[in-house]
Amino acid sequence: NESTKITFGILTVSDSCSQGKAEDKSGPNLAALITKGIIHNGEVVLQECVPDEKDHIKRVLEKWTDNENVDVILTTGGTGFSFRDVTPEATREVIHRETSGMTIAMFKKSLDITPLAMLSRAISGIRYNTLIINLPGSTKGSQECLESVAVSLPHAAALLS
Ligand code: MTE
Repeated sequence: NESTKITFGILTVSDSCSQGKAEDKSGPNLAALITKGIIHNGEVVLQECVPDEKDHIKRVLEKWTDNENVDVILTTGGTGFSFRDVTPEATREVIHRETSGMTIAMFKKSLDITPLAMLSRAISGIRYNTLIINLPGSTKGSQECLESVAVSLPHAAALLS
């Protein structure tokens, strides 16, 4: 129903942030956008930072879907072409169904902003009742991508609950 909370987990994937060598800016920025109401009834319940390790990323995605039962997981980072970028591979191994429309919506808006958007390999999909969406690692890029799918998330979460 209209007043049901949509719970979010925000997973920052970054070697340097997880080692404390860089400050995580994109994760807190995404959390602040949700807290400020970019998604109707959105609420951030889980936030974590992990290194660019496929098994580590998969473990958190599985824990947050299977045990914590969050409605939406936003990952930020690890979607690019570097050897260490494995967030899409980790995501693909845990989702049951891919949600190509959401991914296309992000790329459509992003490519209008910068051709560098094509350097992201982000995917999105559904595991049980949870929607998992990869966002790029930059604060700007992750915000632009969240903005492009935000309007559809209440409906998406309602369909999955
Ligand atoms: N998407 C949007 N909307 N805006 C951006 O500035 N940056 C791109 C891309 N996607 C960007 C974007 C760049 S420069 C890279 S390298 C890739 O995301 C991958 O970023 P990641 O490896 O940090 O996930």
